[in-house]
Amino acid sequence: MSGRVTEKTTNSTTSWRQRISALRNVPPTLRIVWESGPEVVLLGLISRIVASFLPIALLWITKLIIDGIVRAISTRQGVSPRFWWLVAAEFAVAVGNGVLARFIDYLDSLLADNYTRHVSIKVMKHAASLDLIAYEDPVFYDRLERARVQATDRLGMIQSIGRLIQQFTTAVLMSASIVAFSPWLLVLLAVGVLPAFVGESHFAFLGYAKNFKQTPIRRQLDYLRLLAGSKEAAKELKLFSLSSYLTQQFTALSNQIYDEDVRLARRKFVASSLLSLLGTMGYYAAYVFVIWRTLLGAITIGTLTFLAGAILQASANIQQVFSTLAGIADQALFLTDLLAFFDMEPTIRSKPNALPAPRTVRQGIEFRDVSFKYPGSERLVLNHLNFFLHPGERVALIGENGQGKTTLVKLITRLYDPSEGQILLDGIDLREYDLESLYREIGVIFQDFMRYEMTARQNIATGQIEQIEDLDKLRNAAEKSRSHDVIARLPLAYEQMLGRRFDGGIDLSGGEWQKVALARAYLRDAQLLILDEPTAALDARSEFEVFQKFSELTAGKMALFISHRFSTVRMADRIVVLENGRVAEQGSHPQLVNQHGRYAEMFEMQAASYR
Ligand SMILES: Nc1ncnc2c1ncn2[C@@H]1O[C@H](COP(=O)(O)OP(=O)(O)O)[C@@H](O)[C@H]1O
Ligand SMILES: [Mg+2]
Repeated sequence: MSGRVTEKTTNSTTSWRQRISALRNVPPTLRIVWESGPEVVLLGLISRIVASFLPIALLWITKLIIDGIVRAISTRQGVSPRFWWLVAAEFAVAVGNGVLARFIDYLDSLLADNYTRHVSIKVMKHAASLDLIAYEDPVFYDRLERARVQATDRLGMIQSIGRLIQQFTTAVLMSASIVAFSPWLLVLLAVGVLPAFVGESHFAFLGYAKNFKQTPIRRQLDYLRLLAGSKEAAKELKLFSLSSYLTQQFTALSNQIYDEDVRLARRKFVASSLLSLLGTMGYYAAYVFVIWRTLLGAITIGTLTFLAGAILQASANIQQVFSTLAGIADQALFLTDLLAFFDMEPTIRSKPNALPAPRTVRQGIEFRDVSFKYPGSERLVLNHLNFFLHPGERVALIGENGQGKTTLVKLITRLYDPSEGQILLDGIDLREYDLESLYREIGVIFQDFMRYEMTARQNIATGQIEQIEDLDKLRNAAEKSRSHDVIARLPLAYEQMLGRRFDGGIDLSGGEWQKVALARAYLRDAQLLILDEPTAALDARSEFEVFQKFSELTAGKMALFISHRFSTVRMADRIVVLENGRVAEQGSHPQLVNQHGRYAEMFEMQAASYR
């Protein structure tokens, strides 16, 4: 569990550059927000700008009203008819303000939905486009997981940006009107607000650095929380009584975070109280100045009200602008993984002007001096391997666990590219072919094939999703894989939901799932069929039957299958023994038995266990 923590973020000397660099996340995030709904964003922007004018309009109308009243009282002539229009206008602005605020909320919720959907789809699409090899990298995997969470978790930031725009505009308008009256007032105000701003941003960055430092721990907390509630882990957690251990670990880690949080919050409380005192002093100094000017008769009482309000709101908004900004920077930090994820590029893709895969393969597939190692490992899983597969040939690949059989399959299917050497299809490097057209010619069922929590029909149709409506074809494939009988017994037959995740789903046994998965391979009209131990959960007799069928059905095609059972293996035209990343022996069953090599030894061992 501790492995993941060793990312560079644990470095406690989080540099300022690192902290500020998180702000770089803001523009690309804004781009994503914009993409997710330009109309909503635009409308929101306009509404906010309009809304930011309303407070000053209200203040100004109030000033006019008060001046009107004062004049009416001092001249004893009553108010003019225009006066009541002012009251009506103030009412209208107040109503407009309320409606606009709710309209902005409405737009925000629309935007939140759009954004979540847009980012989720973007993450799914991008994940699908990446090399499988990326998934082998724990750092990538971690990043993908976090990107998934971040995709939906950072709506607060978007709303903060909207609020920032509004606060900023209001602050500018209020300040401008104060300056128009007396520039000194703004100076006074700035002197009052500045310390608060410095304090605010200082603590924002401290908080930011703290969060940054805490990210690995929070990740661990997330993992523990997930683990404690996961279906996969439930069995072991119960049997090994691990849950109290997990809870303890969780408590210890979260206490650590809590202590750090409290310490910072306390410091912030003391410092910001003192600083806000300065702000308040600045405000009252300005206020006294305005009162003094009023008493001298230099300004009207209405103007006094206006300025008092403007000063109050300017100072409040300026403070808010900075704290919102600090909040955005803080949130932006958490988007690093999402954006880094979007920046990843696949390396396995079709070249421009790629060749279509040959519709009839003439020479077959050849591994020429192929070596391969997984990223992050120095071990050559395949070591200068030479291997061929001719059209119409059925080859069994055998070897002990970890000898690289599955890896070889992954290379043929171009889920990975060789580290050295070449794989040729009809004499041409696989990398020259168009990926899509290559995939079309290959039907493969992996050892760890998918059990889709979908209907039986969907499960089979995943082999060739265009055929999902063609029930006859699907049933035909199911008959070939011997899964038709399994499915026919289900209450809803082909429409039966499989798996336990959804209501009414029925789980199949391992062997039954394998037969269903096998139907996918038969659904494809591919020239190369590959089965990577897909029948390991079947008993020996069923496996034999499945492979007999397989051999009939693949007559004339290239077939590669991997199995540990010699009853199955001996059906192959040629048997290839893989050892230490090379072909150790190959030939037909009788030939290999007569060679008295590895194959003969393994065969003897298995035969002995049956005697
Ligand atoms: N994703 C991976 N990352 C690193 N090593 C891997 C990965 N997958 C397999 N290996 C290693 O490569 C070797 C061959 O694995 P594999 O091809 O699955 O063997 P087989 O199918 O013959 O049992 C094993 O030693 C295994 O540990
Ligand atoms: Mg394998």
